[in-house]
Parts: sequence; C-alpha cells; structure tokens
Amino acid sequence: MRINKIFKLMAALIMLCVLTACGSQTTSSAPVSTETTAETVSESKEIETAPDTEPAKTNTDRSVLVVYFSATGTTKGVAEKIASIMNADLYEILPSEPYTSEDLNYSDKNSRTSVEQNDKSIRPEIGSDPVEIHGYTTVFLGFPIWWGEEPKIMETFAESYDFDGITVIPFCTSGGSGIGTAESDLKDLAGSGNWIEGRRFGGNVSEADLQSWIDELK
Ligand SMILES: Cc1cc2nc3c(=O)[nH]c(=O)nc-3n(C[C@H](O)[C@H](O)[C@H](O)COP(=O)(O)O)c2cc1C
Repeated sequence: MRINKIFKLMAALIMLCVLTACGSQTTSSAPVSTETTAETVSESKEIETAPDTEPAKTNTDRSVLVVYFSATGTTKGVAEKIASIMNADLYEILPSEPYTSEDLNYSDKNSRTSVEQNDKSIRPEIGSDPVEIHGYTTVFLGFPIWWGEEPKIMETFAESYDFDGITVIPFCTSGGSGIGTAESDLKDLAGSGNWIEGRRFGGNVSEADLQSWIDELK
C-alpha cells in the first residue's frame, strides 16, 4: 500500500513537471516570435522605400540645372523659384555687353534689341563663364519674350552646347505673348537633347503654380 502511494505521488509529480515545462515554453516563445516578425517587416519596408522616394522629391544629387537670361529681373525671379522647388543649381546667361534701358526700348526701331531681333545672323556674345551641363540630367531654360521670340543671346547659348542625353524644359516670361516658336527655334538650333514643350509665365507666378506645372512634367 505504501509503495503504491509513493508511486502515485511520484507519477503525479512527474506529470506536474511535464505540464509546467510545456506551459512555460508556450507562453514565453510565441509573443516574442510574433513581435520579432512584425518589427522585421516594418524595418525592411522603411529601408526599401526611403531610397525610392527621397531623391525624386529633393533632388539631393543636384541633377537639375536652371539656366536663364533676364534683362530686367522678371525671368530671374521665376528661375529662382523653380530652382528652389527643384533644389537645383542656377546659371545666369550674362551678355558680354549688358543691355541698357535704351537698348531695351522696343518703341525705337533702331535700338539694340530692335536691330538684333530683326537680324537672323546676330549672336550676342555671352560674358558669363561656360557651365558644364553634362553633370545634369535636366536643364530648365528661361528667357523673356522679345518681339514674340527668344532673345538672340538664347540662340548663342543653344548653339554653344551639346544637349545630348539631357532633357531641356524651356520657360519664358512676357507681357502677355505666349512662348510661340521660341521652343522649336531653340531646339532646332541646338540640334540635340530631349526638348519638352515649354510654358509662358507672368512675373508674379506663385510657387504653387510652378509646382503644379513641374508635377505635370513627370
Ligand atoms: C525689346 C523687348 C521686346 C518685348 N517684346 C514683347 C512681346 O513681343 N510680347 C510680350 O508679351 N512682351 C514683350 N516684352 C516684355 C517682356 O517679355 C517682359 O517684360 C519680360 O517679362 C521681361 O523679362 P526680364 O525681366 O527677365 O527681362 C518685350 C520686352 C522688351 C525689352
């Protein structure tokens, strides 16, 4: 009888030990395993998505250049807004001989600009140091409209550079005239590059409107 009691007691103790051991294994391992999986998935998502989104939004590699010519500052203002939105570099086309207010007098048919715009062969000299455009994938190209066309110094610029492999996006400012044939004229003179349809802006265009235009280009 006593041996039987001892045997039963030992059997009960063994059962208790087995149950306790299984229970502790079940409760301790399952939650850790789930949490670890969830953390691993969310971490790997962050790592995968960050490189896809950041460079496109912020142009951290500075692959965009905004080139402009501006006689009275209007196109310059628009160029600076575009550069700010795109985190782009800026390059100003400066004439070797600056334009005076007499030069810009479109009421005088003998003013410098009247003469230049009426002569297809004239190419005013650029005074600013040349820019290395082949470090960039995209070049915005801004200028004012003179007599419905691009100023002749823009033709000097178009003919001076090789735009091979570069997307060129013309834009202009004016008193109201559209971009007209300026874009196709410059494209033909350049003879290389992927030229996108250009756009005319008023001098007071907002950054929000410029941002919408840029979003349409993508
Ligand atoms: C010589 C000359 C010709 C112009 N011709 C035109 C024109 O044909 N149509 C127009 O809407 N504005 C014309 N304008 C106005 C300019 O396009 C406008 O003021 C432009 O925004 C000036 O840009 P900027 O300050 O960057 O030089 C002319 C201006 C000048 C000086």
